[in-house]
Amino acid sequence: MRKPRFIAEQGRKPSGLLGRIVARVMAKETADENAFALELLQLQPEDAVLEIGCGHGETLAKAAKFVSRGSLSGIDFSPVMHRHATRRHRRLVAEKRLEFHLGNSDRLPFADQSFDKVFAVHTIYFWKTPLDHLAEARRVLKPGGRFVLGFRPAEDAGFQATFPSEIYHIRPEAEVAQSARDVGFEAVELRRHKRGALQISFVIGARAQDQPA
Ligand SMILES: C[S@@+](CC[C@H](N)C(=O)[O-])C[C@H]1O[C@@H](n2cnc3c(N)ncnc32)[C@H](O)[C@@H]1O
Repeated sequence: MRKPRFIAEQGRKPSGLLGRIVARVMAKETADENAFALELLQLQPEDAVLEIGCGHGETLAKAAKFVSRGSLSGIDFSPVMHRHATRRHRRLVAEKRLEFHLGNSDRLPFADQSFDKVFAVHTIYFWKTPLDHLAEARRVLKPGGRFVLGFRPAEDAGFQATFPSEIYHIRPEAEVAQSARDVGFEAVELRRHKRGALQISFVIGARAQDQPA
């Protein structure tokens, strides 16, 4: 059955009292595929890591177990999610191991080549023009850096039938992989992960090392 618009809107940009509940539920619901995303990132202790659409912040807090000397940053455009994540992970924030930014991923507030690893899970659906967001992800990645994008694909007909298409832009795997190539990611590959009956697809890309002049 198709979800009502107001529920779909909570997935896109959680807000109000319901948004606070969504933050808690989502942290549990998506934990499995987010753990898989962390594996795909091949985290190293010194990495600078960015999560786009970090929501509840739970995944970055888990990444802190692997990233002991690097830095962890998240960005989300929902003030409710930003507040929730900052409060919930206040210890890591106070220790300056984790920071949460409020902002839109079509214009990331970071300098070029700031991060070793960049990832986003269940966020591409809300990008009407994904190339703008993907280009930003690549811009802030260092040469040699790794990018991981997790999403439910259009190949899952049940997913498409459940969410209103004016809010959820659900795309085929091959289209997402091609978009990653179009903005300049290299060595683009596809991996799949199962959570019960659900399939989560992952597009992985790299930013090439700078070529010597
Ligand atoms: C469905 S939630 C997924 C949260 C988390 N990544 C997870 O897997 O549990 C999508 C999140 O992306 C955020 N978001 C959507 N579009 C965004 C954009 N253009 N810029 C920044 N955040 C965005 C939403 O506010 C929301 O917190």
